[in-house]
Amino acid sequence: LFARPFVFVKGAVRIADLPEMDRVEIAFAGRSNVGKSSLINALAGTSALARTSNTPGRTQELNIFESTDKPLRIVDMPGYGFAKAPKDKVDAWTRLIHAYLTGRATLRRVYVLVDGRHGPKPHDLTVMNELDRAAVSYQVVLTKADKLTARELDHTIALTKAAIAKRPAAHPELVITSSQKGDGIQLLRTEIAALLES
Ligand code: GTP
Ligand code: MG
Repeated sequence: LFARPFVFVKGAVRIADLPEMDRVEIAFAGRSNVGKSSLINALAGTSALARTSNTPGRTQELNIFESTDKPLRIVDMPGYGFAKAPKDKVDAWTRLIHAYLTGRATLRRVYVLVDGRHGPKPHDLTVMNELDRAAVSYQVVLTKADKLTARELDHTIALTKAAIAKRPAAHPELVITSSQKGDGIQLLRTEIAALLES
């Protein structure tokens, strides 16, 4: 699956812009700057698929990518939280994210990215609440593991495990990643390929 290129299909600013529900979709959600677009690039094995930036608020649409190998669509979402963008814009993204995450029949799994340095923030818990309520399967991915000592990482893992323990739609295992160093990338590729077969 990931040995073949992924291609950019379109950026959707409203639900009506989304492609037909003709294949499995997975989505990457998380606070602004947590590393969603970087993780998609790491999975796809390129630095040029999804645009990344130091400035929170880089991704401003639901950016749709498709595998050229299998019927899989990857959705890169705008970040929630502290994006450096006008409030009306951020509000519009929030509505779009919510509508997509809770109303898309072909959405097989959401990867909820959480910064490995901080653990889940209130906004992450709100999204998890919504996914639990909508019974949409999700898994927490800790990002930027390269910025942490083993001890710090253990602390975040404990915090995060406690936060997902009683959540019905949460996958019980965390994935620890570094898009920069490659940690967890092969594991995630294998899991996504398995989702497609299930
Ligand atoms: P928005 O689109 O603004 O919501 O952000 P995003 O979640 O897509 O984050 P993005 O991938 O653009 O990355 C944000 C910043 O974090 C960039 O400067 C990346 O280089 C950096 N970054 C992402 N992943 C990693 C990682 O694994 N390790 C390190 N050290 N930096 C990372
Ligand atoms: Mg992004």
